[in-house]
Amino acid sequence: MTDTKLDGIRACVFDAYGTLFDVHSAAAACRDDLGDKADSLSAMWRQKQLEYTWLRSLMGAHVDFWQITGDALNYAMATVKLENAALREKLMALYLALKAYPEVPDVLRSLKGAGMRTAILSNGSPMMLNAAVESAGIGGSLDQVLSVEEVGVFKVSPKTYQLAVDKLGLQASEICFMSSNAWDAAGAAHFGFQVLWINRFNQPREYLPGEPKGVLSSLSPLPGLVSA
Ligand code: LAC
Repeated sequence: MTDTKLDGIRACVFDAYGTLFDVHSAAAACRDDLGDKADSLSAMWRQKQLEYTWLRSLMGAHVDFWQITGDALNYAMATVKLENAALREKLMALYLALKAYPEVPDVLRSLKGAGMRTAILSNGSPMMLNAAVESAGIGGSLDQVLSVEEVGVFKVSPKTYQLAVDKLGLQASEICFMSSNAWDAAGAAHFGFQVLWINRFNQPREYLPGEPKGVLSSLSPLPGLVSA
């Protein structure tokens, strides 16, 4: 954990899935249907979703994150030997209304109250992000919701992080970026953001270029750590 204070910060930019929104809340809401397959399905769904973003970015064969999420769910359901079209539709619908982590609304409000600019920078498509933001009721505390759809490639392409620089009109070093995904934290730090890795799941560090400035177990301490 860190008590590193970050100075010269003009905006706090958040990854969405896994950082603000609990990606495992969709399968958790279907525990009655999924039984003991819920956790393995959810883990495989997330892992495949990420792999498909990296693979399609390398192939130069972009489709949006909604398509990726559906393709990954098909793979995950096949892995746990589930064939159920209605359940697939239910899980996809739940992905549009994922639960926000409990501290998220207060942290965003507190940052805004201190005059900090706030934004999401996510692989999610605009449709998905708007739905998740609305369902969590956090739109009033966000200045911008940025989707990589504007650049047509997924994280960790530098083009995705550059989008935040361009849209916020700031230097990379004036942006504090938060992600629970260690590979995203590495990509963002390598790009030049000041990064806090939100290590919600107590995972080991990655062996990649790009060093986060600090590590937190949740977003709660953030407002006390960043200042202009
Ligand atoms: C996102 C993925 C990385 O929101 O979780 O961009």
